[in-house]
Amino acid sequence: MTRMATALAGVLAGSLLAAPARAEPTVEVLHYWTSGGESKAAGALRQDFEASGGKWIDAPVAGGGGDAASTVLRSRVLAGDPPNAVQLKGPNIKDWAAQGKLATLDEVAKAENWDAILPPQIRDVVTDKGHYYAVPVNIHRVNWLWVNPQAMKKAGVEIPKTWDEFNAAAEKLKAAGIVPLAHGGQPWQEGALFEDVVLGLGGADFYRKALVELDQTALTSDTMVKVFDQMRKLRGFVDDGFPGREWNIAAGMLMNGQAAMQIMGDWEKGELTAAGKLPGKDFVCAHVPGKSGYIVNSDSFVMFKSDDADRAAGQKLLAKLILGKKFQETFNVLKGSIPARQDMARDSFDECAVKSMDDLKGAIADNSAVPSMAHEMAVPGAVRGAFLDVVTSHFNSGMSSKDAVQRLAEAVDLAK
Ligand code: BGC
Repeated sequence: MTRMATALAGVLAGSLLAAPARAEPTVEVLHYWTSGGESKAAGALRQDFEASGGKWIDAPVAGGGGDAASTVLRSRVLAGDPPNAVQLKGPNIKDWAAQGKLATLDEVAKAENWDAILPPQIRDVVTDKGHYYAVPVNIHRVNWLWVNPQAMKKAGVEIPKTWDEFNAAAEKLKAAGIVPLAHGGQPWQEGALFEDVVLGLGGADFYRKALVELDQTALTSDTMVKVFDQMRKLRGFVDDGFPGREWNIAAGMLMNGQAAMQIMGDWEKGELTAAGKLPGKDFVCAHVPGKSGYIVNSDSFVMFKSDDADRAAGQKLLAKLILGKKFQETFNVLKGSIPARQDMARDSFDECAVKSMDDLKGAIADNSAVPSMAHEMAVPGAVRGAFLDVVTSHFNSGMSSKDAVQRLAEAVDLAK
């Protein structure tokens, strides 16, 4: 090769090396969807993302309700290495946005018309000062009672509509050797039981006053004493193995008929259907006893800022796919939730999902849709922590209802 040719070859090779590589949209996804039903649903998101040319790095943290995942998130942020896509919800979104950690999703939101397809209640949660900081995946209802109809039949009891009926049915189930209430003793599960009882006994306005506005009169009211009385009754309806049990293990007890009822959000349905159980046949979904209303919980993803072009491209692709019609259907059918976007056909959804859609509409219309305290939709983390501490200490000790009410009012006041 002449000197000239060698030089030319060198330049060519150099320019080839310098040519920008094609972006590979990449996301490292921190999530806590690790149970049977949850991981099927998360798998659908991953498949969609990979089929669109993305690279998915899975970062699951086991533990229902997400408390373990938020500890991992905080330590990754402190170490200066946050995952670039994170399952996060409620007021936490605005918190992280205020700290300047989150990328805005405004570009995707505008292109995909999120303003028009999201209900205002969800839009408010995922935006801050007019910017989108999270992409909502779904709407989960918290106040469901899941029933094993065969177990109920064995004890000769009907699905209860009031807490008195619940208590009477539970006594009969107990006498028939069936665990009345499948339950996992973890603070978030006890917190969710508590908020369901608050809604059932107090109604939506009371719920809002006590668990959202943190009104001291509501927190110290007779109704709150009654709520703790009912919690004490529930303690008597769970089996001895409840401490520390994960919610999906409790769901297994419902499936095999060891237990007759479980109070849980509709990720329970994802778990039951993933195990081949059918709604209306193997299990029944009913409103938690007492007053009507809809406790709202919505999963969403935030994107932690990243300078890396592949990661920034991955975030945009993920945000776009999540609110796409195809994904909203596939994912929510598997997850047990209903779509976050409001313009979806209902054909693929089962009777529980259709009931959830109708009930949500009704609840928005009559102002009985309330955000879940236990599932981080209603109050800052410190206040939620105060609620869960007192509720769990009461459930796991002989504390009187009056003492619990007093401690709750004080703890919430200190934390807010
Ligand atoms: C989440 C659900 C999840 C459940 C149990 C809730 O807080 O919103 O998506 O399935 O916890 O892990």
